[in-house]
Amino acid sequence: MSVKLNVIVAVSENMGIGINGELPWRLKKEMAYFKRMTKCTNDSSKQNAVIMGRKTWESIPGKNRPLDGRINVVLSRQNLMLGPNVLVCNSLNSALHRLQEPPLAGTIEFIPALSSTSFLLQEAMTSPHCFRIYLTKVLKAFKCDTFLPEVPGNTFRLVR
Ligand SMILES: NC(=O)c1ccc[n+]([C@@H]2O[C@H](COP(=O)([O-])OP(=O)(O)OC[C@H]3O[C@@H](n4cnc5c(N)ncnc54)[C@H](OP(=O)(O)O)[C@@H]3O)[C@@H](O)[C@H]2O)c1
Repeated sequence: MSVKLNVIVAVSENMGIGINGELPWRLKKEMAYFKRMTKCTNDSSKQNAVIMGRKTWESIPGKNRPLDGRINVVLSRQNLMLGPNVLVCNSLNSALHRLQEPPLAGTIEFIPALSSTSFLLQEAMTSPHCFRIYLTKVLKAFKCDTFLPEVPGNTFRLVR
């Protein structure tokens, strides 16, 4: 499998990423950055595929999901039916396989995994397919109940 997976995550000064199933902050510019990063493609005939945990999917307001212009992939071990435009997969590897098989093979440019559980983030960051981690630092501490796991320092180099 030659696919490149990218993690995209915003983290507070105290390494928090979520609280009560939601983002700890409301930052319009961060949302706009997220949208741009997950939606834009160089090749207009392709789309990006956004992989997220089931709770992150549920945290997106109903009117905003599926995320438009992107292939939405939701990870769950339950047998969920989330609509015709949402791919439900029971593991990260199965999601990566499905994205490389017909009918999606060759139609996808960029695969970001949304931060969510420490577990999924850890799995994504330690996956041999993980290419980049786009980490946004939110310059304030917030009360959080979900935290960023340690970034594997032997695999990733801070560039900016
Ligand atoms: N700061 C950021 O950048 C950012 C971005 C996105 C989300 N968030 C925040 O993160 C929090 C949500 O994260 P969360 O940790 O509560 O949950 P989550 O990872 O979004 O969802 C957890 C669920 O996803 C499924 N799942 C996760 N990994 C899986 C895997 N490898 N294989 C199969 N299923 C898998 C399971 O669903 P089932 O129980 O259905 O099996 C699991 O219970 C929210 O607070 C959200 O706002 C923050």
